[in-house]
Amino acid sequence: MPKIADAYRGDGAPSWGDHHPCLFSGTEWFFRTGYRAMLATAWIPALQGVQAKLDAGAKVADVGCGHGASVVVMADAFPRSQFVGFDFHEPSIITAQNRAADAGVADRTSFEVADAKGYEGTYELICFFDCLHDMGDPVGIARYAREHLAPDGTVLLVEPFALDSRPTNLANNPMAALLYTASSSICTPNSLSQDVGLGLGAQAGEARLRQVFEEAGYTSFRRATETPLNLILEAKA
Ligand SMILES: C[S@@+](CC[C@H](N)C(=O)[O-])C[C@H]1O[C@@H](n2cnc3c(N)ncnc32)[C@H](O)[C@@H]1O
Repeated sequence: MPKIADAYRGDGAPSWGDHHPCLFSGTEWFFRTGYRAMLATAWIPALQGVQAKLDAGAKVADVGCGHGASVVVMADAFPRSQFVGFDFHEPSIITAQNRAADAGVADRTSFEVADAKGYEGTYELICFFDCLHDMGDPVGIARYAREHLAPDGTVLLVEPFALDSRPTNLANNPMAALLYTASSSICTPNSLSQDVGLGLGAQAGEARLRQVFEEAGYTSFRRATETPLNLILEAKA
């Protein structure tokens, strides 16, 4: 709390790694239930042609993977595919490696400390789980992902659920108060601490996210599905 108060009085820009470690576990537990319940069974099947590629064996990047909850779920469901988790926060990458080993999926997963504009390789699927809005340069990061997609590759963008205008969102989205609070104290400050510092926030909504992907040069962007907590969006180069 004192760190956040200081940030509000100062530059407003503490980075993800400046927070207490409970934030990293708390974030994992907050989102992991949804990934376990729906990622492999509902979200990936809602993308065009992706499930068949993962069943056959594909390369997948999970950018901003945190503690690796989404990597573990996908690696468990698609044993023929290879999954690489990237995150700029080294302690999270170490935890993610341990989570994958504990889950018995270490043979098809790897994790690297890398910025969202600094990883290598080409992937059939590049995922951002509840993290693109936390980053300083979402347009540059989406463009970088486009350059690292295999032909006919897909970006899976999972973002906190939000309606497009703030009054509508506050009136009709029961999660809005919680997510604006988290956004103001965690997500937006982290974005402001990075290059560009766009500060999208956790309640950007589909229209604003579409604009990011259009600016980054994608030709298609659609809502594949949704839950009360998440928008599940698909972008193609
Ligand atoms: C809200 S957490 C989400 C973590 C994970 N995807 C999940 O769903 O549990 C945001 C993550 O983005 C990472 N992150 C923020 N900015 C980044 C950047 N520029 N490059 C790589 N990772 C970044 C943070 O370290 C953090 O792990």
